[in-house]
Order: sequence, then C-alpha cells, then structure tokens
Amino acid sequence: MTDTDPTPEGDASVEAATSAGAGAEAVDAEPELDRDGTSTPVPIAEPELSDDAIERVASILEAGRLADGPEVRAFEEEFASYCGTADAVATANGTTALHAALEAIGLEAGDAVITSPFSFVASANAIRLAGGTPVFADIDPETYTLDPTDVERVLGERNDIVGLLPVHLYGLPADMPALCELADAHDLFVVEDACQAHGAKIDGRRVGEFGDAACFSFYPTKNMTTGEGGMIVTDRDDIAARAASYVNHGRETDGTGGYEHVALGHNYRLTSVAAAIGRTQLERLPACNRARREHAAYYDDRLADLPLETPTEPANARHVYHQYTVRTDERDALESTLSEREVQTGVYYETPIHRQPAYETVSTAAASLPQAERAAADVLSLPVHPGLTERDRRTVVEAVRDHFTTQ
Ligand SMILES: Cc1ncc(COP(=O)(O)O)c(C=O)c1O
Repeated sequence: MTDTDPTPEGDASVEAATSAGAGAEAVDAEPELDRDGTSTPVPIAEPELSDDAIERVASILEAGRLADGPEVRAFEEEFASYCGTADAVATANGTTALHAALEAIGLEAGDAVITSPFSFVASANAIRLAGGTPVFADIDPETYTLDPTDVERVLGERNDIVGLLPVHLYGLPADMPALCELADAHDLFVVEDACQAHGAKIDGRRVGEFGDAACFSFYPTKNMTTGEGGMIVTDRDDIAARAASYVNHGRETDGTGGYEHVALGHNYRLTSVAAAIGRTQLERLPACNRARREHAAYYDDRLADLPLETPTEPANARHVYHQYTVRTDERDALESTLSEREVQTGVYYETPIHRQPAYETVSTAAASLPQAERAAADVLSLPVHPGLTERDRRTVVEAVRDHFTTQ
C-alpha cells in the first residue's frame, strides 16, 4: 500500500494532538506498556477523545444552549469546507442523514434505488424509510463496494431505477468515476453512503464531492465521532434547504420558522453538545486517518505471505481504513484464535442485507448476489484504530501469524 494522496493532510499542531501520531517513528517510539498498564484485550474500536473536546463541551454546558444553535452551524460549515462542498446539514445520526437526504431529493413511493447488499442495514433501510424500494447489485470482491458492471446489468433489466446509493465500505471509496458515468447516462441521482469513509478520496477528490448528496455517521466506532451524530453534505442549494427543513419539523430554514411548518418533517437535529465534540474531532481527523493508514501498512507488510487476502487500495484511491478487513475461508477459526489471544475482531457483515429477516417481504431482495454472500462468509476485521500501541499491533500480527503457521 502506498500513500497516493497528493495533498498531505493536516499540520503539525493537528499531528501533535494525536496520541498515536502518524509516522512509523512516532508509533515505534511508544514505550512497551500495556494500553493502560494492565493486561487488556486489544479493542476493535476506541474513540479518540481529546481534552479539547471536554473543554468545549464544558463551555457549551456552561452557556446552557444544549440543542440546536450556533455550535451546530459552525460544525456544519467546517465539515462542508473539509469535504469541499457548498453546504452541510447536521443530523442526529447517519441513518437520519440518509433518510433526510433521500426525502430532500424527492424520492417518491415505489421509486427504485440501487444500493449495496454488503453494508450496514441502514443503507437500504433509509431507502425504505423514504418510501422507495432498494434494489441490490453485487459487489466487487476486491473492494467490497458496488460493482459498476453489475449495476449496469441491473439498469439493463429494470426501467424504474431513479438513483444510486453506493457505500464507501470500510473506508474505501466505491468506484465513483464509473458509477457517476452510469448515473449521468441514465439520469439518476447519486447519494453517497460515506458513513464509514470520512476523508477518503478517489481520483484526488474527497468522498462527498461526487454525489448529489453524501451522508456521514459520527457513531463512536467511526473515524470521527460525536457520540451519535450524522451529516449530509451537498453542492445543491435545493437539497440543502429541504434537508435542513426536514430535520427540523419542516420549518423554513431562514430562522423565521417558529411554529409554521411548510412541509412534513422530523426532529432529526444534532445537539450543540455533539457538535462541540465533532468540531474537535474534525481537527484530529487528518492525523487519525494517517495513523489508521500507518497501522494498515504495518499489517500489509507483516501478513503478506500468509494464506489470507489483505485489503486492496486501488491506485486512484485513498483508503482511510475505518476497518482493516482480511478475508480467508477459515474466518471462524481465525476469529476464535484471535479471541483466545485477546484480540477483538469484527465481522462486518455476517448477513448481507438481502438475506436479513427484515427483508423477507421486500421482493427485490430475493436476488442471488454471490460476491456479497461469499464476502459475508469470509471477512474478518482486525483492530486498526488510531489508539493502537506498538505492542497492540504486534500482538495482532503474532496472533494472526501463529494461527496460520502453527497448525
Ligand atoms: C455504511 C453505514 N451506513 C449507515 C450507517 C448508519 O449510521 P448511524 O449508526 O450513525 O445511524 C452506518 C453506521 O454504522 C454505516 O456503517
């Protein structure tokens, strides 16, 4: 894996704020201690909160403005600027971001939207919540993201598709150049599910810049967190205005709303406390992503000779390793070896969405999607979060190597 990002992220002050640092030197220089002085498992995820976050939250609490307010507006502006979009609308979580974005785009009952079957269920649920029908295309077995060739097959078979909802899974962008070309050719909207990919790039552009809208989650396991939280980014004024209204009970968005409700809406607002945490997390994101990439490179080097597949990073992409996911046909055995060695792992996702019980009644879910089904049986994610110590990642590598070499 090489860092193909032409624009190095962050600056020295951001770097210094990250406990894991970014370079090999910084990580290797860490003392040989257990993570908190005791013998604890290596966690699969760990939020990286700074003192700064605590101070900012304290100042919000002191000011007493807890719900929506200027702190949320400031977070929206900073997040839009990071993503390179004109607008951002904060929401209560990633699921509500996806739902509100689809409502703002004007999805209508029965509209069919192509998405990935190999994702967290919220990707497809959002389409259903907005009244649409999710239609699944298969994934590319190397990137685990929507395969444009299979999307094209589905477009050839159906004439009711109005949009694409690709998922940037594990921190790797879907093939947006190819998917956007298909969307243009078939006059489809694109909503990016970027819930796992804050800061990832393809063709030198950040995720969020490609679709009509893109949605992020700030759940604690994500590359940045607000506890619960989400964000819609968009360059389209009409989508930004309708989404901002939808998340605020259908009020006008110029602040004159009061108890006048011009459209159907919801309370999907983010709190000021969450926004305060988010602003500090956004400052740390570039350094945290660099630390994730450095851990991934460490694993790539040390696992390359084993009979397992390490993650792919296409030459035009910059992966941000929300997950470092390997695949092997002895996934369950590897998972139990690692558990015995106190290394936490995760299976994302054991059941593809079209095989979920909640999708039994969705007729479009009956399709056979062999790549998604195979991936669900083979994938295992190893700890890759920025808080990993040198000792943690060595423990991970030794445990994986021992599994394959001492049988
Ligand atoms: C790909 C994907 N989409 C949507 C979501 C939903 O985000 P949230 O949990 O913040 O509602 C998640 C969160 O796990 C996700 O990973």
